[in-house]
Amino acid sequence: MKTLELPQTDLTASDVVVGLMRINDMSDEDVRSLYSASRDAGVTMFDHAAIYGGWHGCEARFAEAVTLSPSERSEIVLQTKVGIRQGYFDFSYEHILSSVEESLAALRTDYIDVLLLHRPDALVEPEEVAKAFDELHAAGKVHHFGVSNHTPGQVDLLRRSVNQPLAFNQVQLSITHANVIAQGVAANMGGLDQSVDRDNDILNHSRLNDITLQAWSPFQKGFFDGVFLGDREHYAELNDVLDEVAAAHGVTPTGIAVAWITRHPAHFQVVLGTTNPQRVRDSAAGSDVVLSREEWYRIFTAAGHTVP
Ligand SMILES: NC(=O)c1ccc[n+]([C@@H]2O[C@H](COP(=O)([O-])OP(=O)(O)OC[C@H]3O[C@@H](n4cnc5c(N)ncnc54)[C@H](OP(=O)(O)O)[C@@H]3O)[C@@H](O)[C@H]2O)c1
Repeated sequence: MKTLELPQTDLTASDVVVGLMRINDMSDEDVRSLYSASRDAGVTMFDHAAIYGGWHGCEARFAEAVTLSPSERSEIVLQTKVGIRQGYFDFSYEHILSSVEESLAALRTDYIDVLLLHRPDALVEPEEVAKAFDELHAAGKVHHFGVSNHTPGQVDLLRRSVNQPLAFNQVQLSITHANVIAQGVAANMGGLDQSVDRDNDILNHSRLNDITLQAWSPFQKGFFDGVFLGDREHYAELNDVLDEVAAAHGVTPTGIAVAWITRHPAHFQVVLGTTNPQRVRDSAAGSDVVLSREEWYRIFTAAGHTVP
């Protein structure tokens, strides 16, 4: 498992992150198995959000099942998110502070390593975010900050007021939902949908500003509509190529789906959503594979993207 020194922070963490959005209905024993398999595989970072599992439900489910000793707590990076409420987004000072207090209680911890603003709030007042972040940082309740699903313009607007470094942007990225990467490959190709820039070049803005990109839903075809792995009806060629490359590297197709993301020189972290310990192990093995350029582009085109 590769680890990354995360720019703009004092953190080092695994490039495979285990996301806990789907643990709400799991037994304590199954949550513990998922956690210990993740740790044994080298995972040191775990992703939550206030909204997962109902209000702070997955955060609470995790802490009910997994008791972290002080030394274990110091060895992992706990990330959570704020800003999604029932039917609207809220980056107000009051909501950021109250949601973090609730996350700390649900997670049964004194501090959150990383807090992300979950989805852009149209009514954001950057000065309010700045005040909330400064207070949380000064109180030792949150050590590092970032955003999720934010465009470069939205990040820059925040950065003009927010004193705390914005060190992360968590965005949707899988081989089949790859606009963040695929657009640039097809830049300047009139008439090709892939060339449409839907996110104002998050990729290069992040690289230029030392913002670590995190890829959520790394195995989903699109927006929560199932995984492409094994879907031969829609992705026969991709699955053939994944099988072949996986065999060549002695890992599973799941591992290659991870390796396709981690091969990118932007040094993405991959945020898994699996609740299956074996899939975590398979993903961790993928983190150690370095795909050749030829393999990377073969997978890219087999998923239906164009290399003009
Ligand atoms: N920032 C955001 O806006 C945002 C949005 C969504 C999610 N997230 C984060 O990203 C994480 C991952 O999201 P996700 O759960 O949608 O991602 P995912 O890892 O692409 O999907 C995982 C889901 O696919 C299933 N699956 C079925 N076959 C699989 C296979 N062969 N390999 C792997 N998974 C398979 C898993 O089931 P099993 O459990 O049975 O393996 C699980 O239900 C979440 O936990 C959350 O932390 C962030």
